[in-house]
Amino acid sequence: MNLPEILYLSRRDIENIGLSMKEIINAVENVFREKGLGRTEMPPKPGIHPKKDAFIHAMPAYIPNLKAAGLKWVSGYPENYKLGLPYITGLLILNDPETGVPISVMDCTWITAKRTGAATAVAAKYLARKDSETMGILGCGVQGRSNLEALLLVLKDLENVKAYDINKDNLQRYVDEMTKKYGVNVIPVDSPKGAVEECDVVVTAGPIRKHPNPVIEASWFSDGGFACALDFDSYWKPKAMHSMDKFCTDDVNQLMYYKSEGYFSDIPKIYADLGEIVANKKKGRETDEERIMAMNLGLAIEDMATAIMIYEKAKKMGIGTWLPLN
Ligand SMILES: NC(=O)c1ccc[n+]([C@@H]2O[C@H](COP(=O)([O-])OP(=O)(O)OC[C@H]3O[C@@H](n4cnc5c(N)ncnc54)[C@H](O)[C@@H]3O)[C@@H](O)[C@H]2O)c1
Repeated sequence: MNLPEILYLSRRDIENIGLSMKEIINAVENVFREKGLGRTEMPPKPGIHPKKDAFIHAMPAYIPNLKAAGLKWVSGYPENYKLGLPYITGLLILNDPETGVPISVMDCTWITAKRTGAATAVAAKYLARKDSETMGILGCGVQGRSNLEALLLVLKDLENVKAYDINKDNLQRYVDEMTKKYGVNVIPVDSPKGAVEECDVVVTAGPIRKHPNPVIEASWFSDGGFACALDFDSYWKPKAMHSMDKFCTDDVNQLMYYKSEGYFSDIPKIYADLGEIVANKKKGRETDEERIMAMNLGLAIEDMATAIMIYEKAKKMGIGTWLPLN
């Protein structure tokens, strides 16, 4: 039997397609609405852990309205920098939802970087104060960059970024690059406290630890602030998380699954997931004083919503390499 060829897309191919952050934010917001309305299928991601604090996760999702079905197989290795390798690497497979036949295999690092920033931006749209001016970023790597790019598109008054990284070279590179690229005021700070105090938005993007040794105190975080954790509870002390008026996540099932695996030993009661908020089933921010946190774990629906756009554009633009399955 003849199987169609699959489209292979390298990271460079994907970058050449030039999907904009605005398009990705719209797609991620739309897919959260689909999730909130119960129109997505996404089991919690299982993983294997070949080294301490490293993971390789399988992330399947199906979004009927986008005709998008597939799986991301993504790894995170905190020690990779010593080998000159990125923390996050992996592949994504798209399947034809009608037949199950694979239609594309693509690098997933660009997609992971961008869709995570986009998910923070969607969370901020509903949970941050509209007049937020100052952002703190802890961990100035790939996520530090894409989160700033995305937040600038939804928080129009954002003009100051307090940046912290344990690696001074990485910090300086971030300050230079981001200042040049976005024209915002990027201020390097020399302690985590400096990147949390007096900030309207705080994003933590350091390494994930199964048994964390967190440092952020409740008193450092301003009333009316919005915090988005991309590194689980590795940075936030339990008391700081319990001080939130609303503790949200991107997926309750995923958070509960991680809890059953020994992560998140002391977190507050979950107010809502982002799907419920975007679909208007639960309210987002209601006052300027609320302290709100989103524990964004990263979802396969975000990846598939982005990947299907990339696949369609690649076909139209003639980008990528067709490979035989037979
Ligand atoms: N939730 C999600 O959807 C999602 C998606 C992708 C990545 N992540 C997580 O985001 C985090 C960052 O990923 P990345 O791709 O940006 O990694 P990266 O390697 O590009 O950047 C990490 C940066 O953090 C710095 N760092 C290390 N320890 C630190 C600490 N204690 N305090 C401050 N900075 C520290 C490093 O020097 C580096 O500059 C990881 O934990 C990753 O698992 C989450």
